[in-house]
Amino acid sequence: MNLIESKNKINFIDYREEYSNLVSFNNNKNLSVHRWYPFVEGYSAEFVKRIIGEQKYIPDNCLEPFGGIGTTALACQDLNIKCHSVEINPFFYDVTKAKLSNFDSKKFEDDILSFASFLKKCKSIPKIPILESKTFFENDNRSKWIFDLSVTYGISDILEQIKKIKLDGNENHILFKIALANLLVPSSNVFRNGKCMSFRKDWKNKNITREEFHENFINFCRNVLLVDIRSRENMINTVYNSSTCYNGDSRKLVSNINEKFDLIITSPPYLNSRDYTDVYRLELWILGYIDKFVDERKLRKSTLTSHVQVPIPETDYPDIEEINSFLLHLNNLDGGLWNKNIPNMFKGYFNDMDILIKEFYNKLNVGGKAYINVSNSSYGNKICEVDLILAKIGEMNNLEVEEIRIARNIGSSSQQNVKFPVRESVIVLRK
Ligand SMILES: C[S@@+](CC[C@H](N)C(=O)[O-])C[C@H]1O[C@@H](n2cnc3c(N)ncnc32)[C@H](O)[C@@H]1O
Repeated sequence: MNLIESKNKINFIDYREEYSNLVSFNNNKNLSVHRWYPFVEGYSAEFVKRIIGEQKYIPDNCLEPFGGIGTTALACQDLNIKCHSVEINPFFYDVTKAKLSNFDSKKFEDDILSFASFLKKCKSIPKIPILESKTFFENDNRSKWIFDLSVTYGISDILEQIKKIKLDGNENHILFKIALANLLVPSSNVFRNGKCMSFRKDWKNKNITREEFHENFINFCRNVLLVDIRSRENMINTVYNSSTCYNGDSRKLVSNINEKFDLIITSPPYLNSRDYTDVYRLELWILGYIDKFVDERKLRKSTLTSHVQVPIPETDYPDIEEINSFLLHLNNLDGGLWNKNIPNMFKGYFNDMDILIKEFYNKLNVGGKAYINVSNSSYGNKICEVDLILAKIGEMNNLEVEEIRIARNIGSSSQQNVKFPVRESVIVLRK
């Protein structure tokens, strides 16, 4: 691999040819089980496998503090490597747990049949979920809604049956929840627009009947979930990572994990003001994780400081030249920022990452390595070298910076107001 440049004795190595397709979720889209939920913010299983493959010895135990939908934990499990993972979002956590679990295909097949026959009988008006946010379901008092009445009925029918299956103690309820989750955005009047949801131009013309919605649901169960469960039934694993995946805030939880690790492979939220609680709002509210604004705010507040959807208190931050000069730049914009919380978000982000990287040092075995996939960000037409700053935070916490691998250049969001692409990279730290 070619050396591109060296800054403060930190080498930037060109990995674009190897990594540009691996640091996105695309490669997972056709992979058994990994494909159970599309997650733009995730990386590929192949990325994790390549990192494991380049180690001098087979790692015993891996840590993933920003688990997402379980790519690291599942890729490790497939290689019989233990992985402890933490994820704050309860929907992502449930998807992860399911992907790491064993299901009986015969039982699931029978349950799909019963579900289908239940849905065939759904003709009357169902019980629609009562949510504090009134933006979801078609309603006479509103001019815009996310789900038309026919889809609302389809969703409500399925939710009612999932509730019953769960009450019966049948663990397949989570599989049905994942199938429903997959239909939500495609059957709605909105689309994910980077940082939030926006209405489709032709949303009034989207007509999906209640019966079509039911059919799409059953098809997903049969053609994706059941097929993948069958394909794994004869796999022999010595390691299962479902009991070591945790739902919570990694800034607090990682320190409580009573283990040492050979490897850390992770991708924290980028410093790009994307609020996952907002982007995955449909899944969180419709699938029953949130039904009140107060719970939504609570979840937002417990995510890493990387967005400005909640007021951010001023915090201390590591004394690093690049942070100070970027804060000065933000200050000089003098009101030219699209949100006044941005400077505090910067401070909070590097403070949070400092807390975590300190823990990485505590949790790594000597010789163990951390691979952090992150992107730079830009505000006020200037790029903040997040990768270089995180590498320096590593150094401040006694970790050696092996290198920064440049993975690809990605387009910057219009909100960040920059016309040039930003670097996405992988920081390699070693204890
Ligand atoms: C870039 S994604 C990780 C994607 C993951 N590598 C994958 O491929 O599925 C970052 C994740 O961090 C989670 N997250 C944000 N704040 C967190 C926190 N305080 N503790 C744990 N997870 C958090 C987000 O919900 C999101 O799923």
